[in-house]
Amino acid sequence: MQLTELALKFGTDKGVHIGEAHGYTIVYDLLFAALKSSDVALAELGLQVGASESNPLEKNVTDVPSARMWLTYFPNISFFGIDICDFTELSRGQFTFLRADAGIAVDLKRVVQELPPVDIFIDDGSHASYHQQLTLQYLFPKVKKGGFYIIEDLHWQPDPIEKIGNIEFNTAEIAKLAINDRFSGEQNGTKLFKNDFSISTYEAVRNAEIAVLFSTADLNSMAKHVLPPHVRAEPVVSLRKYIFDWRRKKNQLSSPKLLVLQR
Ligand SMILES: C[S@@+](CC[C@H](N)C(=O)[O-])C[C@H]1O[C@@H](n2cnc3c(N)ncnc32)[C@H](O)[C@@H]1O
Repeated sequence: MQLTELALKFGTDKGVHIGEAHGYTIVYDLLFAALKSSDVALAELGLQVGASESNPLEKNVTDVPSARMWLTYFPNISFFGIDICDFTELSRGQFTFLRADAGIAVDLKRVVQELPPVDIFIDDGSHASYHQQLTLQYLFPKVKKGGFYIIEDLHWQPDPIEKIGNIEFNTAEIAKLAINDRFSGEQNGTKLFKNDFSISTYEAVRNAEIAVLFSTADLNSMAKHVLPPHVRAEPVVSLRKYIFDWRRKKNQLSSPKLLVLQR
């Protein structure tokens, strides 16, 4: 089954039907289809929508939609779910739960110790820039060479908690500058950024094997009409044709939604 169909089946908004319908599964299907039957190690930070991102502990923990999607898509997966809420009850078999607050360095250091090297790391946590940048600092080195580190929903930051931490720029702003510098050969970020978080985020994006910012809006509308059968037939052609980097589409990407780094 295609990832987008699994997103609908299990109820995550990474697909094109539910909630915000981000359309990320279209991109993921293109990136990960070749790994489907491999022994993939995938870690996802953020397991269930609910409550507000500034008060996640008020959530009633009942399900792990995206985890169930990954567990079905990759039958040989080792899945590691990370969350501030307690999902221990759902941790069994190929699903290992690690509890951590993405805003607390000691929690992330513990995750670094407990997590094996992963092929794919997805940050779908609070979406606050401080959390994204602190997590990137600790967890990017846990991604195997050639593996993917992904941050979802760069276009949106939750209001009250976006102000926490010593953040100069939001993650999308830093990533845009880093990708632009990669192509122009300049080092504007090194001159502009003062704070450790900005610098390490900038360097991760600048030095990644591949760094891509996606705005999935057009993929979303395309998915409803033509993409799944077409992708099924010609995944590589589709990848080249539909996935674009920020430089080529920079005018359309004022609000990029997804950052993909290949280590
Ligand atoms: C958008 S939901 C995840 C949705 C899920 N990945 C899916 O596709 O259905 C965000 C998750 O991040 C968790 N979260 C919020 N703040 C967090 C923090 N500071 N540290 C770790 N997890 C956090 C919430 O408890 C919630 O489970």
